[in-house]
Amino acid sequence: MADGTDQKSSNQMWGGRFASGPSAIMEEINASIGFDKKLYAQDIRGSMAHAAMLAEKGIISQEDKDKITHGLNTILSEIEAGTFEFSRKLEDIHMNIEARLATLIGTAAGRLHTARSRNDQVALDFRLWVKEELQKTEGMLTALIAAFLDRAEENADTVMPGFTHLQTAQPVTFGHHCMAYVEMFGRDRARVRHAIEHMDESPIGAAALAGTGYPIDRHMTAKALGFREPTRNSIDTVSDRDFALEFLSIASICATHLSRLAEEIVIWSTPQFGFIRLSDAFSTGSSIMPQKKNPDAAELVRAKTGRINGSLIALLTVMKGLPLAYSKDMQEDKEQVFDAAESLELAIAAMTGMIRDLEVRKDRMRAAAGSGYSTATDLADWLVREAGLPFRDAHHVTGNAVALAEKKGCDLADLSLEDLQAIHPGITKGVFDVLSVEASVASRTSFGGTAPSEVKKQIAWWRGRN
Ligand code: ARG
Repeated sequence: MADGTDQKSSNQMWGGRFASGPSAIMEEINASIGFDKKLYAQDIRGSMAHAAMLAEKGIISQEDKDKITHGLNTILSEIEAGTFEFSRKLEDIHMNIEARLATLIGTAAGRLHTARSRNDQVALDFRLWVKEELQKTEGMLTALIAAFLDRAEENADTVMPGFTHLQTAQPVTFGHHCMAYVEMFGRDRARVRHAIEHMDESPIGAAALAGTGYPIDRHMTAKALGFREPTRNSIDTVSDRDFALEFLSIASICATHLSRLAEEIVIWSTPQFGFIRLSDAFSTGSSIMPQKKNPDAAELVRAKTGRINGSLIALLTVMKGLPLAYSKDMQEDKEQVFDAAESLELAIAAMTGMIRDLEVRKDRMRAAAGSGYSTATDLADWLVREAGLPFRDAHHVTGNAVALAEKKGCDLADLSLEDLQAIHPGITKGVFDVLSVEASVASRTSFGGTAPSEVKKQIAWWRGRN
């Protein structure tokens, strides 16, 4: 019975009022050990801090506390060595560990659960796990941002077409485009940091939902576990999964950014665009077409976003109808978060590798930047500035120039001065200074604009943060 494997017996942790054990289906639907074993380290750490506090407050003896700590350390090594036997009959990680503790140290094990419940225990374990995952995510985003900053620096002058509607709009620099992603992932990282702050409160000691009559010290356990302070409302503490939802929301937004980047990588690496070459390390070949190099990693990053967004919706849906305080529905929180975390880590790592390795084909970008009349806005702006036209009229005149270039099958910069003067007599040869893509990007010096000088300032600003 101590190992919980006796079919007919009721559960040793809560079975006092039960005459028989659960049906096989009940056991199957109830058990979470298959996935919550991931929380073993947090569970053991939480129990050690709780036991130390109980002893400090005289609620259990020092001797029992020492036995508990020793037993928990043994369990930790057993789990890490892969010799621990997890039992589904013991439902979850909390009861698996406690049952093993009883086998190892006898009655003292039964004193560990004084002044706590699995409700605050799971809230603690899971919160610790999510907090650590967020800290990891923060570091990974920093690496991704660093990869982009390097590419931006190398390409502050690399001209490429900027798009709206995926139609050539105006020339920009590749460095500027890279910095757009630095902004996006920088916001993700700020959200991660904010979420860590938010969830930095210790749940342990909320007990089942109402707190406890034992003279516990929640500030002591909070401190021991690296939390800023204990949570302030015991009912909320065991009901709350905002920290998991926040993780998933942040993950979804970040995955959405990664997916947009993935989509661009897929487009840019086509022979038609040819803006970049992916390294062999981050692409695959085709088993039938020898010439192919496929952007599989980018495609999978794009696809993982579906799983991550799905996890957010799944947990929001689990939580939305739950009365306070704990309900077993909440056990469904973990798989969503674990799956999303694994997917997000992989996606960020793959993207960081791709960005670090990718070859930028400056010639292809430059050629594409000049096509599609990308400097039409520059012509219109020149007409406003130099010929004194109202912008609307300048827009119209430029439209005529584009139509003529289209008819002739050439770029705006290839039209002759006579051609342009026939469209508007105020045009002089000075106009050719702005029709080149280099002149166009160099002129966009507004704060946050695409001019290389401006992009370099933004890179320096980001380099000064981390
Ligand atoms: N395995 C449970 C979970 O993940 C632990 C909490 C169980 N609490 C309870 N009152 N049955 O949510």
